[in-house]
Amino acid sequence: MEKLNELQKKILDLKSKKNAVILAHFYQTMDIQIIADYAGDSFELSKRAKNAEENLIVFCGVKFMAESAKLLSPHKKVLLPNPNAGCPMADMVNPEIIRNLRKEHPNAAVVCYVNSSAETKAECDICCTSSNAVNIVRKIGADEIIFVPDKNLGAYVAQFVPEKKFIYINGFCPIHRHITVDDTIAKKREFPNATFAVHPECEPDVVKLADFIGSTSQILNYCIESNDKEFIIGTEYGVVERLRFYHPEKKYYILTPTLVCPNMKKTTLNDIYNCLSNEADENVIELSDDIINKANIPLEKMLLLG
Ligand code: 13P
Ligand code: SF4
Repeated sequence: MEKLNELQKKILDLKSKKNAVILAHFYQTMDIQIIADYAGDSFELSKRAKNAEENLIVFCGVKFMAESAKLLSPHKKVLLPNPNAGCPMADMVNPEIIRNLRKEHPNAAVVCYVNSSAETKAECDICCTSSNAVNIVRKIGADEIIFVPDKNLGAYVAQFVPEKKFIYINGFCPIHRHITVDDTIAKKREFPNATFAVHPECEPDVVKLADFIGSTSQILNYCIESNDKEFIIGTEYGVVERLRFYHPEKKYYILTPTLVCPNMKKTTLNDIYNCLSNEADENVIELSDDIINKANIPLEKMLLLG
């Protein structure tokens, strides 16, 4: 067990008194990841939230992730330690956009990346994450796919399913999207022996240059299991921090210093302690029964197929 500071110990103490579970995304800072009962990518965290025995879930991540936990476990109390931790990509789609797309493409199935609000999920046929998107789209009966909100993830998936027609909106992750081919080539020149692993939220021209493409969890596993010794990481800095922490025998270089998600970094140990102590309304994820009933369906379908 890692050496913990006083605040971390207080959180763990309070957590066991309240019989809560702490879930953390890999983009959280390491001081948070090490006190989590489970750290994971979006798909793994959804499964953990659903299967958790505890009735109180502290979700260290961004709002759409905590909402997914609530949708999959409506009877549990889900706390988001920092209520301002959102995801700009999730805000690039809404129910009205989906309804209009459905009118234009009545035979299409709507596949919704989990990086979306509960209200948006309620309008969709099935959800996916970056780790299962190809699998999900392959298994859907429809020949036309409305893929929202991430255009880059959609374009990545489409290569594996050339028989289907894809309809996109202009959604993107501002953190991953701004990485350029020039940045990538420069980094590869700087570290010519490094293997390049990238998240599919990056631009297709950058993804094309990668040796490995996958979700945060898949990137971590790839680096851990590979015989290679040096890696350029094309996703958020939390992944690099985790690799350096648990596997310091290898070298990891962040593709650009700007690969830091300000929303993922909003949550602090103090937020976690305060939300566990007070369970204040602003930290509790509340969704209407109607939204829960509708949005649970595409998420459960994802768990079944993904
Ligand atoms: P993962 O599902 O790969 O963890 O990605 C979540 C995310 O927000 C990527 O930007
Ligand atoms: Fe959203 Fe991008 Fe941050 Fe992931 S990294 S939470 S997609 S803004």
